[in-house]
Amino acid sequence: MAFTRMDQGKIEDWMVIGHAVTTRQAAMPQIIKSMLLQLEQQVDGFAVNQLHHALQTATRAARDGASEEMIVAALCHDIGKVISVENHPAIAAEILKPYVSRETYEIIRTHQDFQGRHYYALIGKDPDARSQYASEPWYEAARVFTDGWDQASFDPEYDTLPLSHFEPLIDRVFISPGRELVQGA
Ligand SMILES: [Fe+2]
Repeated sequence: MAFTRMDQGKIEDWMVIGHAVTTRQAAMPQIIKSMLLQLEQQVDGFAVNQLHHALQTATRAARDGASEEMIVAALCHDIGKVISVENHPAIAAEILKPYVSRETYEIIRTHQDFQGRHYYALIGKDPDARSQYASEPWYEAARVFTDGWDQASFDPEYDTLPLSHFEPLIDRVFISPGRELVQGA
């Protein structure tokens, strides 16, 4: 019988919970795909919806020879907008964190500051917000992500790959948490 208070839990309870969580982990790729599909409802005045933007960003990353992990991160970089446009970089980064490298996590976490180069001046914010990360080893990769892929991916005429193309990559990247989650367990 499962505990009703944590301070009464036994090792047997935790073994059952651990097994159940591990089993449910197999659903993570499907959860990511359903979140991406929710982005299709978000247009917000852009020339393409947010799913198209995500697919186009990932397509550009793939065509530039990015790693599989980076392609999936490009696909998911705005997935936090399902929850909150305001907090979306942090939400997306934390979803990705157990599955990707520290560098990829940081690129997604900070991508709005890098993206600001292309529109912050129009809304009275600092277009050089990215400069605070100038000494980071992942700065150049973040610059490529934003300037080459993210900010350019609002083109309805671009030859964008469909979600089905990326599904095997999602399955591989999200199937098991990496070292950071294991260390935190
Ligand atoms: Fe974006």
